[in-house]
Amino acid sequence: MEQTNIRAVACVGVGVIGASFALQFAWKGYPVTLCDVAQAALEGAKKNARENLNVLIENGIITAAEALEIEGRMTYTTDLAEAVRNVQFIQESGPENYGMKQPLLAQIEAYTSPDTVIATSTSGLLVTKIAEQMVHPERLIGGHPYNPPHLIPLVEVAKGEKTKDWVVQKTCAFYKSCGKEPVVLNKEVSGFISNRLQVAVYREIIDLVQNDVCSLADADRALLYGPGLRWGIMGPSMIFHLAAGELGIGVTMERQRESLDERLKDMAAWKHFPKELAELTANGIQEALNQRTEKEGRTIDKARVYRDKMLLELLKLHNKL
Ligand SMILES: NC(=O)c1ccc[n+]([C@@H]2O[C@H](COP(=O)([O-])OP(=O)(O)OC[C@H]3O[C@@H](n4cnc5c(N)ncnc54)[C@H](O)[C@@H]3O)[C@@H](O)[C@H]2O)c1
Repeated sequence: MEQTNIRAVACVGVGVIGASFALQFAWKGYPVTLCDVAQAALEGAKKNARENLNVLIENGIITAAEALEIEGRMTYTTDLAEAVRNVQFIQESGPENYGMKQPLLAQIEAYTSPDTVIATSTSGLLVTKIAEQMVHPERLIGGHPYNPPHLIPLVEVAKGEKTKDWVVQKTCAFYKSCGKEPVVLNKEVSGFISNRLQVAVYREIIDLVQNDVCSLADADRALLYGPGLRWGIMGPSMIFHLAAGELGIGVTMERQRESLDERLKDMAAWKHFPKELAELTANGIQEALNQRTEKEGRTIDKARVYRDKMLLELLKLHNKL
């Protein structure tokens, strides 16, 4: 905490993402003020915090006493000025459109000093455009989380055209102090890095299903029990490199050029998801749920519990808890 001079944090907009971010910041020792226009959202955030803390207790990650301390660091208000006035870092997680974010960011900065860093959780809007109504756009930065932020370490840090380098450094240092893995983008792009990678894979899955190569369930299994297991350990470039032996990734890929190009020629390159997408996925996902074991969870709620438990185990293996 000394490194960043950040002593207190505010989360503005505490729906799905803001509430989870706030829990993480409080978990890592920061006093956090949660602010929302809707009283119901504040109540929901409080309830979610308790439920998520219970999961951490049940999995032996924190004690009941620590959970109480974490809750003690979280305060709730509908008063924006009160929430942001005395903090050094603000995470904005309001609705995903310029019409809401632009005035909200201008309002937030009116109550803070110019050296307060403001991060927006936006999933796809441009930081430069979100900052258009700000007097000090240089301290706005994209801090794109992966859901749920209190568990998934990745946060993608994106500069707008006017964002200063000190803001990038302070933001990364703060996120690291919370146990997160910040990845900084050199340019603003829609979907950041992670969502582009996800959509690239998903385009290919839909294409394979549409072309009757496999079912949606089998595409999931092929990924889960093949590359997915390795990707949970290392990124794809490092995995390729390890498989390449003495030659290394560059030479090996060069030697496989003919085979790689053959694949690429045949793969999906379309620019719009097909109109049958809803129907294709709805049918396929039911089949995938039916194929799951009782332990893996055959309903969405049970599968979610299984996913979160496995996620905690993976995070333990990565020393991220
Ligand atoms: N849901 C995800 O998986 C996900 C992942 C990464 C990033 N994001 C991004 O995070 C942001 C929030 O998404 P979400 O899914 O949590 O949305 P959400 O609808 O669950 O929460 C938005 C909250 O903002 C509040 N709000 C609206 N106007 C406000 C104002 N003027 N002041 C304070 N609070 C206000 C709403 O009452 C609501 O509680 C979006 O920018 C979204 O793109 C979402």
